[in-house]
Amino acid sequence: MKIGLIGAGRIGEIHAKNIFGSKNANLFAISDLNFERSKKLADEFKCMPLSADEILKNPEIDAVLICSSTDTHIKYIIEAAKSGKHIFCEKPLALDLNEIDEALKIVQAAGVKLQVGFNRRFDPEFSNAKKIIQENLGEVLQIKITSRDPGPPPAEYIKISGGLFCDMAIHDFDMARFLTGSEVTEVYSMGSCRIDPQIGNLGDIDTAITTLKFENGAMVVIDNCRATNYGYDQRLEIFGKGGMIQVDNKRPHEIILTSQMGSKKEKPLHFFLQRYEESYKIELNSFLNSLEMKTPIECDGIDGKMAIKIALAAQKSLEENKPIKL
Ligand SMILES: NC(=O)c1ccc[n+]([C@@H]2O[C@H](COP(=O)([O-])OP(=O)(O)OC[C@H]3O[C@@H](n4cnc5c(N)ncnc54)[C@H](O)[C@@H]3O)[C@@H](O)[C@H]2O)c1
Repeated sequence: MKIGLIGAGRIGEIHAKNIFGSKNANLFAISDLNFERSKKLADEFKCMPLSADEILKNPEIDAVLICSSTDTHIKYIIEAAKSGKHIFCEKPLALDLNEIDEALKIVQAAGVKLQVGFNRRFDPEFSNAKKIIQENLGEVLQIKITSRDPGPPPAEYIKISGGLFCDMAIHDFDMARFLTGSEVTEVYSMGSCRIDPQIGNLGDIDTAITTLKFENGAMVVIDNCRATNYGYDQRLEIFGKGGMIQVDNKRPHEIILTSQMGSKKEKPLHFFLQRYEESYKIELNSFLNSLEMKTPIECDGIDGKMAIKIALAAQKSLEENKPIKL
């Protein structure tokens, strides 16, 4: 399987490393608007720095990984589908539901596969939580998701990210769908800029709480913040008829040091590169497996669309200060 990767930034580098390390794929080329960046990664992972156009037109390439900025995803999905290449696209697919519908139609007509980068579904802790729900917990009543970053991204990233709900909370909206196995009927969000005035100046928020109601009756509360002073805060609590599941933060180790000063544990792992390192490998393997075995994609275009639908409703709820029905 020959792979072309578009976008050699933070997430592109992770995927490039994982493809390079995979026995089932061959990293053929890397592209980035910033040629120096693609050249550096291509040298490191022994492939060619090409333009996105050269990757999309190259008949030798079977699949593309779209890891460029959010505002470029839909264009590359459409071009890749039209040239018959399978697609892995980072979240979010786009910020407009009509554009997503149009692209999904083109993907379907082309008969290629499309996976969306909701990597947290593949995290061993969270995928096990889902299994435990099915095997032991039964009906889910309530879920609490805490999702806080250690620090905000640069202003240049924020500007084209789609905002906190479409860029950051979207992972949590997908996690809520994944764990409840149901669709959202109502979204209510509140949020403000409490951390970084630069984010406020760009018209975005950095702190939010969202509540979701689901068709099957489950209720979910999600708290998001762009910064903590203690690392990446990624916790889950699922309460169901058969009991309760908690997933705590991951730390470099679990040793507890106790002294006269009290007891001390390590801080949580710093950010997504560390916390979700394994999930990125597992999601890539899942994509490659689906291509090779011709089995359905585990996290597909509809999952990508439903998550952005929730995110857009959350934004509307914030702006109109009322719950939004879906
Ligand atoms: N799944 C995850 O955990 C996760 C984590 C981070 C980012 N992301 C998503 O990945 C995407 C990239 O995020 P990032 O953090 O790597 O950003 P980044 O700013 O570090 O990298 C983006 C790269 O894309 C390049 N680029 C921009 N336009 C391009 C174009 N038209 N063609 C080719 N390259 C282009 C930029 O030069 C840059 O190198 C975003 O959509 C983001 O939402 C997902």
